[in-house]
Amino acid sequence: MNETRPASMASFWMPFTNNRDFKMHPRLLVSAEGMYYKDVDGNSILDGTAGLWCVPCGHAQPKIVAAVREMIGQLDFAPTFQMGHPAAFDLAEQLMEYTNHRFGHVFYTNSGSEAVDTALKMALAYHRARGEGTRTRLIGRERGYHGVGFGGISVGGIAGNRKPYGAMLPYVDHLPHTHDLEKNAFTRGEPEYGAHLADELERIVTLHDASTIAAVIVEPVAGSTGVLIPPKGYLKRLRELCTKHGILLIFDEVITGFGRMTTPFAADYFDVEPDLMTTAKGLTNGVVPMGAVFTKPFLYEAFMQAPAGIELFHGYTYSGHPLACAASLATLEVFREQKIVEHAASLQSYWEDAVHSLRGLPHVIDIRSIGLIAGIELAPIAGKPGARAFDAFKKAFADGVLIRTTGDIIALSPPLVLEKKHIDELFGKLAKVLKDLA
Ligand SMILES: Cc1ncc(COP(=O)(O)O)c(C=O)c1O
Repeated sequence: MNETRPASMASFWMPFTNNRDFKMHPRLLVSAEGMYYKDVDGNSILDGTAGLWCVPCGHAQPKIVAAVREMIGQLDFAPTFQMGHPAAFDLAEQLMEYTNHRFGHVFYTNSGSEAVDTALKMALAYHRARGEGTRTRLIGRERGYHGVGFGGISVGGIAGNRKPYGAMLPYVDHLPHTHDLEKNAFTRGEPEYGAHLADELERIVTLHDASTIAAVIVEPVAGSTGVLIPPKGYLKRLRELCTKHGILLIFDEVITGFGRMTTPFAADYFDVEPDLMTTAKGLTNGVVPMGAVFTKPFLYEAFMQAPAGIELFHGYTYSGHPLACAASLATLEVFREQKIVEHAASLQSYWEDAVHSLRGLPHVIDIRSIGLIAGIELAPIAGKPGARAFDAFKKAFADGVLIRTTGDIIALSPPLVLEKKHIDELFGKLAKVLKDLA
């Protein structure tokens, strides 16, 4: 196996990584199949995070691999500016079907960040197209993560992602986050306390006036900040207020889409209709980079009233890339054939019981779960925020499980094809790691 080690690690500037630490103690993955990675030393690593929330159908899914192989031999690249190829249109129709036709159109991007920036631009351009060009303000939420574009970090609410980058977009405001350990610790599903925090939108409307506000963007369940689950009734209230004030509601479903919640999307789970929805990751089973913005029919129609010509001056060279379309079409087929969402739903209570069985272990100050997602919050080491969870991450990898940490929170989001034996292995190993933590 040694020959697969890179000759040097000096030149790759790794994203969201402690480069100096990693290059001294690398963790190198060389292959993947089903629920497991293999590392460079030949160890099996159980994937507790679906890569980065990306792989609902499991790794090296044969149908998806075959579809991408076939497409690359047939159509390696085709532009979608004033041109097209059949798979891009077929996929769009199938995606509409997958949302039960609750959306009318889909715009392709290459990542979640691009999907977010696209949705924000669409919201601004929509109001302008309708003669309400004063609606230029965007509202995000504290602790929100919407990728790393300038739009996404502006509406996002994670300090470390914003601090180094100066002023960012103007005309942005933030709702408060909904995390409250005093009131809601150790909740299964949606916590009881906090729906009233949606009313903070009224305060923001009073401050700026509705006529200046284009859109509100939230993650239905915030992932990257450490699994923050919306309080009961919170999202419905947000929807009501957006409707009342003519503000578009964008759900960022980059991690909650494609079965993660045991429903196709979080919008289904919470029974709340956003006007736009951003997706990526599970859209192609993570196999080829792709994002997508889903829009309600009225949005598209507003643009189609413009004088003849290009209706939206926006798009990416790789929007609707043939390989991504092939991967996504095959992913949808696997979802149908293997009833991935139903399978995830059948395991939800076993998953929830397993994660909550960690209650009482050293340093565990909260456990929260919804769908096939879990957050385990650890007490920080005084003066060293994040160090305890990162230690858990390293120890877990050494013991053969991939977990993800953010601050002192462990976030789990396995491939949806897992079985009970994988849940037992994941939480068995994690319990041992937590018991051994300093
Ligand atoms: C909710 C949310 N939005 C956007 C993104 C950004 O996606 P990408 O990393 O594909 O740009 C992420 C990534 O984790 C995410 O969780």
